[in-house]
Amino acid sequence: MNMKAPRGTQDLLPGTTEKWQYVENTLTDICHRFNYKEIRTPIFEHTELFQRGVGDTTDIVQKEMYTFKDRGDRNITLRPEGTASVVRAFVQNKLFGLPNQPTKVFYIGPMFRYERPQQGRMRQFVQFGVEALGSADPAVDAEVISLAMSAYQELGLRSLRLVINSLGDGESRQNHRNALINHFEPHKNELCHDCNLRLDKNPLRILDCKKDQNHPAMETAPSILEFLNEDSNQYFEKVKGHLDKMEIDYVVDKNLVRGLDYYNHTAFEIMSDADGFGAITTLSGGGRYNGLVEDLGGPTTPGIGFALSVERLLMALEAEQVHLPVDDNLDCYFVTLGEKADAEAIRLTYTLRKAGIQVDKDYQSRKFKAQFKAADRLNAKYVIVLGETELENNIVNVKDMHSGEQEEVSINNLVSYLQSNLQGGK
Ligand code: HAM
Repeated sequence: MNMKAPRGTQDLLPGTTEKWQYVENTLTDICHRFNYKEIRTPIFEHTELFQRGVGDTTDIVQKEMYTFKDRGDRNITLRPEGTASVVRAFVQNKLFGLPNQPTKVFYIGPMFRYERPQQGRMRQFVQFGVEALGSADPAVDAEVISLAMSAYQELGLRSLRLVINSLGDGESRQNHRNALINHFEPHKNELCHDCNLRLDKNPLRILDCKKDQNHPAMETAPSILEFLNEDSNQYFEKVKGHLDKMEIDYVVDKNLVRGLDYYNHTAFEIMSDADGFGAITTLSGGGRYNGLVEDLGGPTTPGIGFALSVERLLMALEAEQVHLPVDDNLDCYFVTLGEKADAEAIRLTYTLRKAGIQVDKDYQSRKFKAQFKAADRLNAKYVIVLGETELENNIVNVKDMHSGEQEEVSINNLVSYLQSNLQGGK
């Protein structure tokens, strides 16, 4: 029997989950400021959604999806990414009909890809992403990019590199496509099986091939930037202009094509240049997908978004030795002596918790001294000592573990005493 977590998954244990919560809270707070509202979509969807949405010729759809038949013989897939699901929800729930456009949403949740696991590449990973649907204003591209950069910067990352490109509109892409076919056709026999299929179906994907990445024809392949028509060029210039005004540094990489089919116009990735970050340097990616809503059955609606994985974000924080201000203290810990006192502590623990105070006590029948040690290990700010004598006098002894001072407090006043001391940050 295999009782280990499946390859490419991980348990997040106490001590680590606090970091996740901190990161998730920060990201949620940033979305609040940028006015993106949370959306939660199902973890599984009909397989067809991703075949149509992400694209039949992508690695994700061809090799990486967790797909199965449910008991009703439906083809179901664990979501490999969030954009297709958000667009499906946008269409199904007719969000395009709401007066406030663009529709700006964010999500945080697990995604699943059957990839070869390595550091920063998991089979289950958590993506945080945003999508803005309903505006073709280049300022929205800049907004999404600035949100992505804020996410990293506010968490303390410094070694960041923003890489952008334009994939142009339909006409530009068609011209580029033809040029790519002409370019790669003579090398057909030297390219891998997948690239031969890509040549017919989607030659842009060849530029993304891991097997053929060192083939000399890759370097000389025509770049999309040479094929941008006037509109696409202007669009790209405007996006860059907004970024310049916002003082967000970027580099243009004409080879950036992204691994999903739905992109056009702006495409971007954020990389980590931190020493020791590892082989995979991409922290996040996104771009514009103006045809996707229509492809998935909705009205013509432009869209743009990006996604990052929390796993890679935490790796980058570690590589840059950023320590998150995670609070692992405990407000109070009861130390008791005698059965009656312990029973009273159980009652008081509940009273304090109901009053909003964080408190714990011993449940291992530890000796008096060992209870103090436990309080120490838990970083308790206050230890509340309750023995038989205290109980008889209806008092407790509250010890401030930071200063070492001890005070006698009436049990009747314990809640207000702790509330005012904890609030005072003592
Ligand atoms: P993606 O580039 O496939 O784009 O993934 C975005 C990010 O998810 C990556 O940059 C990386 O941080 C993380 N990621 C992907 N695969 C893994 C993995 N196996 N393990 C850990 N992290 C991973 C998308 O998914 C698009 N939906 C992004 C988007 C949103 N475009 C527009 N809107």
